[in-house]
Amino acid sequence: MITLEHVSKHYGETVAVDDLSLEVAQGEVCVLIGPSGCGKTTTLRMINRLIEPTSGRILVDGHDVTSVSPEQLRRGLGYAIQSVGLFPHVTVAGNIMTVPRLLGWDRPHMQARVQELLALVGLDPAEYSDKYPRQLSGGEAQRVGVARALAADPPVLLMDEPFGAVDPLTRERLQAEFARIQKELRKSVIFVTHDVDEAIRLADRIALMRDGHLQQYDTPEALLDHPATKFVHDFMGADRALKRLGRVRVSDVMRNEVPTMQDGSGAETMAQRASCAESRFVYIVDAGGRLEGWFDCVAFREGRVARDAITSVDWREAAVRPDTSLKEALSRMLGQGFRSIAVVDGDGRLLGDVALAGIEETMTAGDAYITHAGGEPEVDV
Ligand SMILES: Nc1ncnc2c1ncn2[C@@H]1O[C@H](COP(=O)(O)OP(=O)(O)O)[C@@H](O)[C@H]1O
Ligand SMILES: [Mg+2]
Repeated sequence: MITLEHVSKHYGETVAVDDLSLEVAQGEVCVLIGPSGCGKTTTLRMINRLIEPTSGRILVDGHDVTSVSPEQLRRGLGYAIQSVGLFPHVTVAGNIMTVPRLLGWDRPHMQARVQELLALVGLDPAEYSDKYPRQLSGGEAQRVGVARALAADPPVLLMDEPFGAVDPLTRERLQAEFARIQKELRKSVIFVTHDVDEAIRLADRIALMRDGHLQQYDTPEALLDHPATKFVHDFMGADRALKRLGRVRVSDVMRNEVPTMQDGSGAETMAQRASCAESRFVYIVDAGGRLEGWFDCVAFREGRVARDAITSVDWREAAVRPDTSLKEALSRMLGQGFRSIAVVDGDGRLLGDVALAGIEETMTAGDAYITHAGGEPEVDV
């Protein structure tokens, strides 16, 4: 648990953080958000004592952070930042072992931990352990940064715009991975961002700051539906119904039973399958169940030859994962011009699909309150 009590930080005339009180419960993600210069980074850096508050008190697990040495404190706090800060002349494995080495872990223990963490953040240990930071893409470097922050299994994780420097698709994947990892590890996290959608997606609670002041600290739903000030209202944006879709996972609304056929079934079999298919599209999968495309039964019945009714796709681009947000799934659907989108696992195996109609239902039923990260459903009152 992290507690800030009346914390302020002044730089001469500048008040970077002003009388900030905040409590982050064990296992919760607090997203600290606000315009540039509102005091987010200053707040994080006071928690791990890279800088000292002018006044106020910060407790981590009930202990005043000033009662332990900064070095000792930082070993219990994972810290991941936007620029990653990987040591350039040290391998990926070496970077991840930074804190374990300080803690005096033996080599086999550290090596096992590196393997475990790389797998956790979705990088193949055999391929990545010995690479150097310059050999990594932006997204890969961020993953290594997160792995390094988690290395000594700190109970608290501080993340300063960790996904700020990557392209939108990579960012989406990193967010999904973070949500998955957090569901498993249940760290107490303070996550800084200036991206409202990212905040809505990842936060248990959002702390919205402005000019060093806390404007509102509550669930994403509360900030969307009951903004405390006009500033909160404006900052959260107008498209609230859409934003709420950022809280729902594809897995919450997907159809698990979808019609499929194997490619290479031959035109005749395909024709047969198509004529009795209950829905317009029949997904085409390979022998291992991997998505290869779909068959348009309507186009086929309208007289096209079987081959022309087939659309071939790369599952990496044409499908979403179960942990993708509905907001993202909707935007992908609109981008592709289809009324549904396939759902696949990490190896491209077809799991089901999500239809526009299903999303519509979710929006009108107000079910966009199904919580993420497995909490209790919240009720719209
Ligand atoms: N070392 C410093 N000296 C003087 N002013 C600073 C210093 N660090 C931050 N500030 C000021 O404090 C305010 C908050 O900064 P910061 O916490 O970095 O904002 P954010 O991370 O929300 O963008 C800004 O006005 C910034 O200019
Ligand atoms: Mg900052």
